[in-house]
Amino acid sequence: MFERLERLSPDPILGLMAAFRADADPRKVDLGVGVYRNDQGDTPILRAVRQAEQAMLGRQTTKVYVAPAGNPGFNQALERLVLGDDHSTLTGGRVRTIQAPGGCGALRLGAELIRAADPAAVVHVSTPTWANHVPLLSGCGLKLERYPYFDPATGGVNFSAMLAALERLPARAVVLLHASCHNPTGADLSEAQWRELVALFKRRGLLPFIDIAYQGLGTGVAEDAFGPRLFGAELPEVLVAVSCSKNFGLYRERTGALLVINETPAAAETALTQLVRIARTLYSMPPDHGAAIVHEILANEDLRAMWAEEVAAMRARIQGLRREAVEQLKRTCPQRDFGFIERQRGMFSYLGVDVEQVRELRTRHHVYMTDDSRINIAGLHRENLEYFAKAVAMALTGT
Ligand SMILES: Cc1ncc(COP(=O)(O)O)c(C=O)c1O
Repeated sequence: MFERLERLSPDPILGLMAAFRADADPRKVDLGVGVYRNDQGDTPILRAVRQAEQAMLGRQTTKVYVAPAGNPGFNQALERLVLGDDHSTLTGGRVRTIQAPGGCGALRLGAELIRAADPAAVVHVSTPTWANHVPLLSGCGLKLERYPYFDPATGGVNFSAMLAALERLPARAVVLLHASCHNPTGADLSEAQWRELVALFKRRGLLPFIDIAYQGLGTGVAEDAFGPRLFGAELPEVLVAVSCSKNFGLYRERTGALLVINETPAAAETALTQLVRIARTLYSMPPDHGAAIVHEILANEDLRAMWAEEVAAMRARIQGLRREAVEQLKRTCPQRDFGFIERQRGMFSYLGVDVEQVRELRTRHHVYMTDDSRINIAGLHRENLEYFAKAVAMALTGT
């Protein structure tokens, strides 16, 4: 049987990670991998996570399965974190949530739900979008199309082109939106733009599928959820895929959820029965550990305050690095405006150099980023910023 299988080449990001590890130069800089890093270049366990984990494990008496939809306490806490405590969808009973193995699991569950409702549905994703959106959403057979989003000239959103494209979509077209910290560009929608979009979605009858993977790492915990909160309040149906990987630092614990907002409580309940069926066909029950930790943190006032402080510190570090990167680049590359890096949000930005220059940065200067020039801002730190800015200047001028 298996001799027929075609061997696939490794994921480019894995190749990049291996090349970085093998590089013996002490000046090497890793801007490739998409995880948060602190000033020491580590991705530590949050203090709130450590404490919650110890408290939770001390009390745990069994390892029997959690329910098919996951831990109800976690699901409710996450609904309130994303939508806000007294959101009209919560008081109206219009939300149902299924715990998922990470944001990826939530995206896949959402795609499967859409396919169950309409196998011919088309999902529209931004140009560009996170590379994994493509296999996660199309893997179940849904067709994917693109809408314009990023404007390389300004480093912001080409909002008029986006609006014009969405305006042409048929009713019930699915549109994937990034709530904040757009991956890979860092270019986010403003509150005014979210408001314009919600009117368009209402008028055209479009279904928003919102991916929120960086809540708290952009502008603030509430601010980064502005889109899902507005869309949930204004529209009859919204899907929200939530990841706790970055803002709780729980990457390997595979912690996330899919929120389904529906027109009525009964319709939301129906969608949940379908999601439970879908989960059964994929993995049956979600993993418990990460969700139990998040539940413990959000339910405990002290741990929640500690977590909020730690998220604020991560956010401040990213924003500080963005400012300092622009300052350093202004000094080393005065001919080029990198000011967009400071206006963008979250961990990622496109540096805006071509693939030859990316290779040059890697081979000559030991600065690693993906071929599209996406950089993880959190991979920078005070000691390597100046080196990074000088390397960029040399790659740009060919010196
Ligand atoms: C835009 C986006 N969505 C979703 C995810 C989901 O991540 P996970 O499955 O690790 O929770 C990520 C992680 O990098 C992401 O960048």
